[in-house]
Amino acid sequence: MTNQEIPNLTAFDDAALDQAFAAVEAEARAAASTLTDESSVEAFRLQWLGRKQGRLTEISARWLKSAPPEAKKSLGLRFNALKDVVEGLLSQAAGSGPTDAALAAEIIDITLPGTRRLTGAEHPITRTLNEITRVFAALGYSVGVGPEVETDFYNFESMNFPPGHPARDTQDTLVVANQERRPLRDRLLLRTHTSPVQMRTMESQPPPVRLIIPGKVHRNDAQDATHSPIFHQVEGLCVDANITFSDLKGTLDHAMKALFGSAVKTRFFPSFFPFTEPSADVQISCIFCGGKGCRKCKNSGWIELLGCGMVDPAVFVFAAEKQPAYDPKKVSGFAFGMGVERIAMMKYGISEIGQFYAGDMRFLGQFV
Ligand code: DAH
Repeated sequence: MTNQEIPNLTAFDDAALDQAFAAVEAEARAAASTLTDESSVEAFRLQWLGRKQGRLTEISARWLKSAPPEAKKSLGLRFNALKDVVEGLLSQAAGSGPTDAALAAEIIDITLPGTRRLTGAEHPITRTLNEITRVFAALGYSVGVGPEVETDFYNFESMNFPPGHPARDTQDTLVVANQERRPLRDRLLLRTHTSPVQMRTMESQPPPVRLIIPGKVHRNDAQDATHSPIFHQVEGLCVDANITFSDLKGTLDHAMKALFGSAVKTRFFPSFFPFTEPSADVQISCIFCGGKGCRKCKNSGWIELLGCGMVDPAVFVFAAEKQPAYDPKKVSGFAFGMGVERIAMMKYGISEIGQFYAGDMRFLGQFV
């Protein structure tokens, strides 16, 4: 919109002034009513309130400066009133969202359905992790975490997998490139289990420890129906004076009943892990057939679920380098580790591990 030139005033009586100011105010209101977006609001501001060339500056120059002294007061009052109006129009246009003109241009069809937002849901892995964590939190365990990119020392050596030991072959993983110049113990790899957090925790605090460690781990395992190169574990560690194998059995028996129902039975089978001695695999009575024997338990009535054992004295010796209170003559403890995917698959009857990572809403939607 082009502006009228500001006319020179020829009369200074009240009626003439009223008329002259009313004309300019009407012009300002008309201009403000067409403002639709930020740039037009800014143009309005410059045009009316700009310090050098704005219309108010021009009015002040033309009307006030040349007015006879007796008219100055009434001119000034009207000028200030006009300025208030223009500033009001501006802040209204700038602050109140869409202007009348913008709203008039927008067509809202209230018969259309609204935009629906899908409610998010806990991923079944997260849910299972949280469930396991809650069971142990109720027993007084705290929750710890550690890095997924781990050193050879924490992942292997301090867990009693010495360099070159064949036990390392069972947990192959990706290693970070170009570290040949570093000592082996400092080289970085993607952790193969959550067990290294046992050592990180013991190094950072004296006994007693009751700790649960949920986390993501990596293995050089080919993907199949039950294996994935990236999966989740929950680790547990309990260290105190006089912790015995009975404490381990009681704790895990309770945890399995809390997770799978009070009818579930547990049994412990001899096994091997470098960081526990003795070590055991825990089996639970088959939750599908109640122990009678079915396809899921390969007719044995039992399903193997996790590894555990009494903390090996060699592990305490590593911890004692930083925290002397982990003297294997004075403390004892147990540890355990379980695969979260495996537990979630059993709890929810899932037969393909890949479902967890595919991001398919038809799968995930079942857990809302
Ligand atoms: N770290 C073992 C693995 O990934 C699992 C495990 C077994 C953890 C026995 C433990 C344990 O703490 O005591 O295969």
